Amino acid sequence: MQAIVLVGGEGTRLRPLTYGTPKPMVPIMNAPFLARTLERLHAAGIDDVILPAGYMPQAITEYFGDGSQLGMKITYVIEDVPLGTAGAVKNVEEYIRGPFFVLNGDVLTSLNLREMIAYHEEKKGLGALHLIKVEDPSAFGCVVHGENGRISNFVEKPKREEAPTDEINAGTYLLERAVLDMIPTGRNVSIERETFPKILAEGNALYAYTTDDYWIDVGRPQQYLDAHRHILSGEMPLQLEPGLTGQGNVQGMIIAPVHMDGDVLIEPGAEVGPNVVLGEGCRVGSGAKICDSVLWDHVIVGKGAQIEGAIIASGSSVGDGARVGRGTVVGHDMVIEANAVLAPGSRVGPVAPLAQAP
Ligand code: GDD
Ligand code: MG
Repeated sequence: MQAIVLVGGEGTRLRPLTYGTPKPMVPIMNAPFLARTLERLHAAGIDDVILPAGYMPQAITEYFGDGSQLGMKITYVIEDVPLGTAGAVKNVEEYIRGPFFVLNGDVLTSLNLREMIAYHEEKKGLGALHLIKVEDPSAFGCVVHGENGRISNFVEKPKREEAPTDEINAGTYLLERAVLDMIPTGRNVSIERETFPKILAEGNALYAYTTDDYWIDVGRPQQYLDAHRHILSGEMPLQLEPGLTGQGNVQGMIIAPVHMDGDVLIEPGAEVGPNVVLGEGCRVGSGAKICDSVLWDHVIVGKGAQIEGAIIASGSSVGDGARVGRGTVVGHDMVIEANAVLAPGSRVGPVAPLAQAP
């Protein structure tokens, strides 16, 4: 079995984080999100992975190389212009030999891929789509199906009151190779808006595979923070290298759960937690308080600073006594002045993007 992981999106909803790091490389518990997805594929015995990329691809290729360190084979196909979620799949056609998985690159889930394969083999449709029930489907693609699972309709990003169902496309598909013949070449094609509806219109069957797994799309700041809270609480089972939690030079107070990488320094009188992740080389000054936040690598927090519900990218610093309000997102290498007050929901990033899609 092969898998295509879609990693070409620009991650606009995670800006300014994604000016410096493409969405698949955004860290989840201090490791790139894509590494978590690849681990999951590897655990399911799927080691032949194709990555259609386009936005800041070198950050991905440099980190994962040919995949041999993970015991996998990774093939990169770089798009000069974004081809869309189906166009990207069509563009890697030459590498696909049989039925294959397609995974959205920003979904964190406990879905069992082996069981999904068994479901697809039983249903014998042109494809099986993983669905999940959510409270508000308006940010997702609604998928309508009958009792036997056969899908009858797709409604992408409906208004909340117009959503036909609470079951949404969860971004994992298992497709027969024949699906590739139904995607046109040479232009941007959306699998959700164009290819899936076309498959139905031509009388072919797609089946819904609805599960109650843990599932979250980390493509927005609040969901990114939620995902960390869920991992820290154990709600989302995630295999972590043993011993990482609690390392570092802790002279201040830790309020569990907190996860930190090596070489972290927490000075006396500082208070870290609950629900905090600190990346490599972070420094927390005396008297500082941090809760419900994710700090990437080498973030310096000054004495007496207060950070609540924020995401701070690598290399940034928060000055002494500064206050960072809930929902704040700080990009790479930013400097927040001493005693500054950032209102909830602030975005602190470069005036001009550090990098743009080609
Ligand atoms: N290679 C490539 N090229 N990848 C792309 C492109 C492209 O042009 N456009 C998007 N992607 C990748 C993104 O990087 C992401 O991993 C995935 O395709 C989905 O794109 P998003 O932009 O994150 O889509 P969404 O979250 O708004 O909606 C999709 O996911 C929902 C579940 O999270 C849809 O599939 C919805 O139907 C679904 O409910
Ligand atoms: Mg998404």
